[in-house]
Amino acid sequence: MNRVLSCIQPTGAVHLGNYLGALRHWTSGQHECDGFYGIVDLHALTVTDRPGVVGQSTLELAAVLFAIGLDPQVSTVFVQSHVPEHSQLSWIMECTVSFGELSRMTQFKDKSAKRETEFIAAGLFTYPALMAADILLYDAHDVPVGDDQRQHIEITRDIAMRFNSRYGDTFVVPRAVMPKTGARVMDLQDPTSKMSKSATTDTGLVYLLDDPAAILKKFKRAVTDSDSEVRFDREHKPGISNLLEIQAAATGRSPEDIASGYTQYGPLKSDTGEAVIELLRPIQARYTELMSDRAELSSLLRAGASKARGIASATLQRAHESIGLLPL
Ligand code: TYM
Repeated sequence: MNRVLSCIQPTGAVHLGNYLGALRHWTSGQHECDGFYGIVDLHALTVTDRPGVVGQSTLELAAVLFAIGLDPQVSTVFVQSHVPEHSQLSWIMECTVSFGELSRMTQFKDKSAKRETEFIAAGLFTYPALMAADILLYDAHDVPVGDDQRQHIEITRDIAMRFNSRYGDTFVVPRAVMPKTGARVMDLQDPTSKMSKSATTDTGLVYLLDDPAAILKKFKRAVTDSDSEVRFDREHKPGISNLLEIQAAATGRSPEDIASGYTQYGPLKSDTGEAVIELLRPIQARYTELMSDRAELSSLLRAGASKARGIASATLQRAHESIGLLPL
């Protein structure tokens, strides 16, 4: 069975971009693959330093992942820090990637530029090595992600190929899998930037747990343009195209088909808001139920960690043997 691995960071609340670009494909494909889904809390330390924050966000994110429909009977949901092999393989990955390759990563350039006056952790620079470890530990073939992770998957492939050529065939070389619609959901207030947890204001971000009134308000205020033609054209009409693509992703239709049903912006905005509200309604109800039983959530995560460790420890051992580290 095809092995699938993907992860999400517990930084800030989950937004519509995360859901349409990645999370919903984790659930829709889960019965046809052997899926591993990680909450990567160690990655969050690159940008979070307040005690207790990451642990609480991790628990809430676990509830979101089960609320969207990940079935613990078929999918393995785990927390990165519960599987120490991630940190152990990460060092080996750091020694398999070059300083030059890490320097060219756009995420590092963007995030370090935004934090110019703040503490810039070295982990922000070596982040792709830990991410490569996350993926390669599970012999994953497919990595379902949004478009912003493309460069990270590319560098993971390069690292895997370099390791295999240095030490012999050890790692599966993975590929990124991206959805047809929703791979790059844009900020509703600035449709030329992706919807992102690190946006300076959240009026353009739709969170999975926003109440219906807030969702509708955000869509009604979405930035469009000054002409009035409803047409799917990302380059010249980014705001309208983003709304069309969000509605397409929420309803399973194509953006062009949806565009043909509108002559005005107002109804497109409110219908897109309504489609998103309907999409999120069952998730929100299930989230509230799950958060009321924290012991059950912890027990699901314990089971996930134990299954994940079974795979990860065998891969780490294989990597040690390929390198020829002295056995204990
Ligand atoms: P993160 O936590 O930022 O985002 C989780 C997933 O959501 C997708 N995504 C989007 N998709 C469409 N439109 C958007 N505006 C949007 N914003 C986010 C992301 O592409 C991602 O799939 N580096 C990763 C976490 C990670 C990881 C991994 C992912 C660590 N190890 C191993 C896959 C495999 C990240 O920061 O995602």
